[in-house]
Amino acid sequence: MTAQLAPLGQEFDQGLLGRQCWLELKNGDRIELPVERWTDGCVQGDTVLLDGCAGPTLDIGCGPGRLTTALAERGVAALGVDSSPTAVRLTHQRGGIALLRNVFDRLPGEGRWHHALLADGNIGIGGDPVALLRRIGDLLAPGGDAMVELDPPGQGLRHDRVRLHPNPAGTWFTWAWVGADAIAEVAARAGFRVAWTTSRGHRWFARLERS
Ligand SMILES: C[S@@+](CC[C@H](N)C(=O)[O-])C[C@H]1O[C@@H](n2cnc3c(N)ncnc32)[C@H](O)[C@@H]1O
Repeated sequence: MTAQLAPLGQEFDQGLLGRQCWLELKNGDRIELPVERWTDGCVQGDTVLLDGCAGPTLDIGCGPGRLTTALAERGVAALGVDSSPTAVRLTHQRGGIALLRNVFDRLPGEGRWHHALLADGNIGIGGDPVALLRRIGDLLAPGGDAMVELDPPGQGLRHDRVRLHPNPAGTWFTWAWVGADAIAEVAARAGFRVAWTTSRGHRWFARLERS
C-alpha cells in the first residue's frame, strides 16, 4: 500500500480533531500530545498566557482556538494564525477570528502587535526557535512581547524530524523543543530577553521582551 502524503499545514489535524496522537521521532521515540487541551476549554496554566495579553494579540499556531476565543471573550483583540484549514475552521466555529497562513508569510498588522502567543509547544514551529522568534520580533510593536510555553527545566534545546501518529498519511516535518533552562540563550540570539519564567503544575512559561 502506498502512503499518501498529507498536504502541508495539516500535519496536526488528527490531534486538532481530538484524536489521541503522538509524535514519532526519527530514533523511534514517542512524544504524547495533549490533544484534550487543544479541544477543551481553557485549562490550568492558560491564565498565565491570557493574563499576559492586554492588547492586540497574535495567537500563532492557534489550533482549535481556545486561547484566541478566550482573549476575545476578555475583550482583547486577538487573531489566530494557523497553517491548517481545520484549525481555522474550528476556531471560527468557536467564535474566534483566525487566518489561514504560515506564520512566516505576510500577516496583517506587521510591526504593530502588542503580544504574540506561542502556546502548547508552538515555540517548536519550523524546528528553529531562533528563526521563529526573529519572525515574531518583526510582527511585534516596539515594547511588545512574546508569551511562550516551554518544556520543564533540564530539557535544553532540541530539534528533530517527527511525524504524527496515528496518521497513515503522516509526513515528516521538523519540530523543536525548548526547556526553561535554554530559553535565555535562544531569546538573546533572536533579540529578546527573558522578563520572567514561571510554572503552573507541569506547564512552564516565559515572557520574552524585545531587547
Ligand atoms: C501544538 S498544535 C496547536 C496548539 C494550539 N496552541 C491550541 O491551543 O490548540 C500546533 C499548531 O501549529 C500549527 N502550525 C504548525 N506550523 C505552523 C506555521 N508555520 N504557521 C502557522 N501555524 C502552524 C499547526 O497547524 C497546529 O494547529
